[in-house]
Amino acid sequence: SNQFCEVRSGYDEAGCGIPSSSLSSKILIKGGTVVNAHQQEVADVFVEDGIIVVVKPNIKVGDDVYVIDASGKFVMPGGIDPHTHLAMEFMSTETIDDFFSGQAAALAGGTTMHIDFVIPLNGSLVAGFEAYKKKAKKSCMDYGFHMAVTKWDEVVSREMEIMVKENGINSFKFFMAYKGSLMINDDLLLEGLKQCKSLGALAMVHAENGDAVFEGQKRMIELGITGPEGHALSRPPVLEGEATARAIRLASFINTPLYVVHVMSIDAMEEIARARKSGQRVIGEPVVSGLVLDDSKLWDPDFTTASKYVMSPPIRPSGHDKALQAALSTGVLQLVGTDHCVFNSTQKAFGIDDFRKIPNGVNGIEERMHLLWDTMVESGQISVTDFVRVTSTECARIFNIYPRKGAILAGSDADIIILNPNSSFEISARSHHSRTDTNVYEGRRGKGKVEVTISGGRVVWENDELKVSPGSGKYIEMRPFSYLFSGIDKADASYISSLNAPVNRFKSST
Ligand code: URP
Ligand code: ZN
Ligand code: ZN
Ligand code: ZN
Repeated sequence: SNQFCEVRSGYDEAGCGIPSSSLSSKILIKGGTVVNAHQQEVADVFVEDGIIVVVKPNIKVGDDVYVIDASGKFVMPGGIDPHTHLAMEFMSTETIDDFFSGQAAALAGGTTMHIDFVIPLNGSLVAGFEAYKKKAKKSCMDYGFHMAVTKWDEVVSREMEIMVKENGINSFKFFMAYKGSLMINDDLLLEGLKQCKSLGALAMVHAENGDAVFEGQKRMIELGITGPEGHALSRPPVLEGEATARAIRLASFINTPLYVVHVMSIDAMEEIARARKSGQRVIGEPVVSGLVLDDSKLWDPDFTTASKYVMSPPIRPSGHDKALQAALSTGVLQLVGTDHCVFNSTQKAFGIDDFRKIPNGVNGIEERMHLLWDTMVESGQISVTDFVRVTSTECARIFNIYPRKGAILAGSDADIIILNPNSSFEISARSHHSRTDTNVYEGRRGKGKVEVTISGGRVVWENDELKVSPGSGKYIEMRPFSYLFSGIDKADASYISSLNAPVNRFKSST
């Protein structure tokens, strides 16, 4: 249901009939199969004061402990969504899920942390960060920030350092598309890659050739193709492949790791595969929409239906989805995000006469875990341990918060889900928890259901009811120099010695 029961303290002050035992600071999860990325085992999990204290079989506890029976079910780290846009001002409007509604939806779907993209204010990273800190005050689950870089000068360069050293940010996103607003050129990308490398921060790219997209949009409008299908036709896979290849080569030239967000096409995926095969540190993030949808609905006769599928890079023709699933199952792509960026049908209708004015973005923060379980695990494409890796652990490792997040280990944060593989889910805008009025996965059913979500040691989702309180989520600071940076200095040293060119070889001695 869309009704949240907001619990503002440790007790059921809202009076909505939740047994206060479920809000105990001590929880025992009994008899489930505990799954980490490295192994699975039948064990109990004991949680106290927000932290996992013990993981082992047959834990005995007193009666002040809230006990949850998980036999026959999987006990897994809560999902971490590496890619969301909550309360983002974009394309003359603002995404309709804020840090409360978006996170509540996430928790109902088994995601207990997300990393959102701070957009600078008039190019200022510091001002953007302050604005996002305010937006995030109402958080009901843990969150971190990436930061976009949209212009370049000495101030921005210094602000990147401040973000890394003082504000807990270890990744920066460069938009190679959205000409005239967020787009950067190769000159800025090179400066940004250099600064990321020196700070130990991960460079991320939205990889589409923005100049060519602009040209493709003009081409469609001149042909009179103004509907939502024009969006996909104006920015074909070749433009995603080109930008992905360019970003990968520039990151190789600078010798710094690269993270490609929302990999939507075979073209982009194959560039990542090639680079990884050559030993380059490139991370590829598919998003749920790219993994499970195709572009057919963009041609739907109903504008509300067609426009809800408009996102960038576009959802591709059938075939790309299966290829991306295969790439995920074989490790060519490493972790799954959503790019949750929702606009309601009124906002989408800004573009009824011109697809260029349809705000770009789809939902997914609530649906990601269920759809991935059904599409990848139920279908036999990945193991349950790999499910944990691609939905949680790998994200925690890349952004340097493992094993505080992404693991069911003694000492880790108590962000835990219980998934029943014998139950089922059904997705609908009527029952989802997002504020938007449509859902790109409308009507989908599948096997596996997140029955319990524990966030920060509190049961926040149980019996299909949310118990969330604004302000309970914490900002998770992320330190630089993740594992992706280890050995970069050695590779640089061997590069320099391989040059075999003396300094000032022919310089005159005067
Ligand atoms: O269409 C999308 N993806 N909207 C969000 C902004 C972005 O490019 O990630
Ligand atoms: Zn209630
Ligand atoms: Zn993007
Ligand atoms: Zn995005």
